[in-house]
Amino acid sequence: MSKIVILTGAGISAESGLGTFRDEGGLWAQHRIEDVATPEGFARNPNLVVDFYNARRAQAAEASPNAAHDALARLERHHKGEVLIVTQNVDDLHEKAGSQNVVHMHGALNSALCARCENRWPAPLRMAPGDACPSCAAPSARPDIVWFGEIPYQMERIEAALSRANIFAAVGTSGNVYPAAGFVQLARMTGARTVELNLEPSVTVSDFEETHFGKASETVPKWVDNLLR
Ligand code: APR
Repeated sequence: MSKIVILTGAGISAESGLGTFRDEGGLWAQHRIEDVATPEGFARNPNLVVDFYNARRAQAAEASPNAAHDALARLERHHKGEVLIVTQNVDDLHEKAGSQNVVHMHGALNSALCARCENRWPAPLRMAPGDACPSCAAPSARPDIVWFGEIPYQMERIEAALSRANIFAAVGTSGNVYPAAGFVQLARMTGARTVELNLEPSVTVSDFEETHFGKASETVPKWVDNLLR
């Protein structure tokens, strides 16, 4: 049966009320990446960074999945072959919608990481710099987010899935950030059918054989209905 890998980005969570990064007024228009999404920024001003993720964690905790998340969960339930979601998002809306096979390659708001012993535990709603690690007790808790300059998580698992994929879809991502933006090339090389579902053409739109433009809450359910037909 066909194996499907779906890369999602901030655009799939936009209709759930969570801001994207590079749209008009997006997160990177409100905050400097180097201040809130780099290890150097965290070292320079841990309070600013922890507060940035506390605000996003609180917002994500209140957010509900939209029809696009629901459709991908339905696809996983009913598709005979394997369905893997590789998300760049740090919210848990795929899980709230019922998806189980999800890889958070940029980390997750609901996870905390010890900068000293690499232990992970469920993040409290509000983290504070110097929170103690429950395992090694060092005051070295940090948001379990992959910052610019750090290595995304589970890349071997992702590359293995891409090498076996029959269908690769990208939903709600602008194609600006690697390695995620390069996944479509890997998928094409191994013969997968490539589909972009986005509000507007991404930077990498020419790498996709098939495109569906519009809001994810409309394009993704339609696309899933056709796959399950
Ligand atoms: N439906 C579908 N697509 C949408 C919608 C929507 N309702 N709203 C916005 N989009 C699209 C935009 O057109 C854009 O192409 O979602 C994309 C969002 O792009 P970005 O804001 O760049 O977000 P993303 O691609 O996920 O960023 C990747 O960059 O800063 C890092 O770690 C961060 O994971 C993030 C990564």
